[in-house]
Amino acid sequence: MKLIIAGDYQEMSRIAANIIAEEIKKKPDLVLGLATGSTPLGTYRELVRMYKEGKLDFSRVITFNLDEYYGLSPDDPRSYHYYMYRNFFDHVNVRPENIHIPDGTAPDVEEESRRYDEEIKKFGGIDLQLLGIGVNGHIGFNEPGDELLTATHLTDLAPDTLTANARFFGSIDEVPRKAITVGLGTIMQAKKILLLASGPEKAAIMAELLDDDAVSTRVPASFLLLHRDVTVIMDKDAAEIYKNRAKKIDAAIQPASDF
Ligand code: PGA
Repeated sequence: MKLIIAGDYQEMSRIAANIIAEEIKKKPDLVLGLATGSTPLGTYRELVRMYKEGKLDFSRVITFNLDEYYGLSPDDPRSYHYYMYRNFFDHVNVRPENIHIPDGTAPDVEEESRRYDEEIKKFGGIDLQLLGIGVNGHIGFNEPGDELLTATHLTDLAPDTLTANARFFGSIDEVPRKAITVGLGTIMQAKKILLLASGPEKAAIMAELLDDDAVSTRVPASFLLLHRDVTVIMDKDAAEIYKNRAKKIDAAIQPASDF
């Protein structure tokens, strides 16, 4: 696991966008796994800027989003479809036919989940997966529990997630209780993973994740410890508790200036 501690959110976003851009330059038909939430917004802004400056071309890039709220239609401003178009797809040249997001309104969720996994497989799996992390350690909407599912599935959102995401819905009662998410298998099979964490509310989970030598279904992100190619980029606030423990602050941390 490579660790980068960025000075602030801006720097975290710039480094993440640079890493994504490098991968697209190496492989123009990159299969890019995308995330939603507050964390990647700055990364999308940077990628849009690079595209507008003529430095990046998405015309052959294939995208797969991690998840979608169950029951929200694509034109619902609170859906992840809407988020992705407003913050990214409307401003770059990803071809509409190359965009994949689970359909939260599919009448047959099991069929939709199977279809989604087949599409990912058809493109040879995810090359680069962008991830945020929940305060409870979830990745995608793979919530802590007794077991984690490998394939795309319908899931109940954890109470912590409902609380954290209430800010996007006005009140907790408005947050959908369920979502379709890719499973841990799809994430772990990605060739390269980029995990972003920003802000003081992520400091505790990042310390737990990085300090621990164990994996547990109680902290879904801990499975990333088993992956060969994970880069974690945190801003100073998200790194605060981990840094203070100073146990493993050493060669594992790459200077942000290298990126
Ligand atoms: P956030 O969400 O970026 O809005 O904090 C992260 C997540 O829940 O994965």
